[in-house]
Amino acid sequence: MAEKPNKGKNQPDLQRRSLIGAGLGGAALATSGLLGSAGNAKAAGLGVPEWSQYLGASVDDAPYGMPSPHEETVIRRSVEWLTATRESSINFTPLYALDGFVTPNGVCFERHHAGAADVDPAEHKLMIHGMVDRPLLFTMDDLLRLPRVSKFFFLECAANGGMEWRNAQLNSVQFTHGMVHCVQYTGVPLKLLLEEAGVKPKADWLLVEGGDSAGMNRSLPMAKALDDCMVALFMNGERLRMEQGYPVRLVVPGFEGNMWVKWLRRIEVGDGAWQAREETSKYTDLMPDGRARRFTWEMDCKSVITNPCPENPLHHKGANVLTGLAWSGRGSVKRVDVSLDGGRNWREARLEGPVLQKCLTRFYLDGWEWNGEELYIQSRAIDETGYVQPQMTELQKVRGVNSIYHNNSIQTWHVTKTGEVENVRLA
Ligand code: MTE
Ligand code: CO
Repeated sequence: MAEKPNKGKNQPDLQRRSLIGAGLGGAALATSGLLGSAGNAKAAGLGVPEWSQYLGASVDDAPYGMPSPHEETVIRRSVEWLTATRESSINFTPLYALDGFVTPNGVCFERHHAGAADVDPAEHKLMIHGMVDRPLLFTMDDLLRLPRVSKFFFLECAANGGMEWRNAQLNSVQFTHGMVHCVQYTGVPLKLLLEEAGVKPKADWLLVEGGDSAGMNRSLPMAKALDDCMVALFMNGERLRMEQGYPVRLVVPGFEGNMWVKWLRRIEVGDGAWQAREETSKYTDLMPDGRARRFTWEMDCKSVITNPCPENPLHHKGANVLTGLAWSGRGSVKRVDVSLDGGRNWREARLEGPVLQKCLTRFYLDGWEWNGEELYIQSRAIDETGYVQPQMTELQKVRGVNSIYHNNSIQTWHVTKTGEVENVRLA
């Protein structure tokens, strides 16, 4: 295997052969990275690791690819004590391990009221009826023949951060903020289907219902349905995952996740809200005076730092990456500020584009260094309406402490002198 390089000749074949040999001089080393040969790696002081000594996996080994086995801890996780059963439950997106603004399909958090239904697309149908001129029944093939659009949107469960209303409770960004994901949806605009059915002039509400055993349903105002809702068939370029409502789900941009009905089977057109369980007993906000706030559909502007965070402590002094995500159900994120001293001083972060409507937006604090000092780091997002993400104390002044849903307060991470990061609440 070891062969002396053929010095002085520029003939391509010889050059190539010489790069595969061991014991090359500096000039050859400079290009060795391109060929990645074991011999050159050894010469460069990298040694010859196990994986360089054998053939790699065959092209038949992974017909549907999985992440590297070295990333096996990057998974959805659940909080054992949170729900009574594993079917009517929730798991969380591993935000600490992701970058950019797109959530990979396999780690999009799941929320089911009766487990993930295994729906046969050949049998499944979508019905539109009620106050319409022409009741319609679509097969999935019918839907796939209609004009479609592709757009990125975040989906956030109204209960995201619900465990954190009174105290800082869970020492993990996955659990405090992981009921959110952001993918590119492809589907048919709901407006198009409603126009096809011919909505009666007095109709101003829809009931949207799922085909899971919960038959989960919600009332949706007509104005929203005609604005930007979508009957989605694809996520991130491939057909929906079963957990996300395969073969068809409703996309309700900016509105609380509960309204994004999965395994969508029925849309009834009517002239009033249905007062469904999920909009009366659940998904309302108990206010300090004992009354419940209802129909709080839009997800308020929010942000969180995903590195550093409890899962990502700081191991090195000097240059480090400070990054996070911001979003608003009312449009695009205009600005994100970062504080290192618990909200006394703020510095503007850089928004990494694209900055899209009702979409997660990635931000970075460029040139950040950590030199072993104790910090209280926070991010504060401002959306295009001018709304500023509040501190928890401000939010509690209005909302009290009895809420579960719609906690969009500023998160504080305490960085200790040893680089550990913990979830804390500043009074
Ligand atoms: N649709 C049906 N049919 N059944 C459900 O249990 N859960 C809702 C919504 N749509 C649900 C549903 C809730 S509360 C949320 S937050 C989102 O779906 C979660 O979507 P995901 O599982 O794709 O994250
Ligand atoms: Co939800």
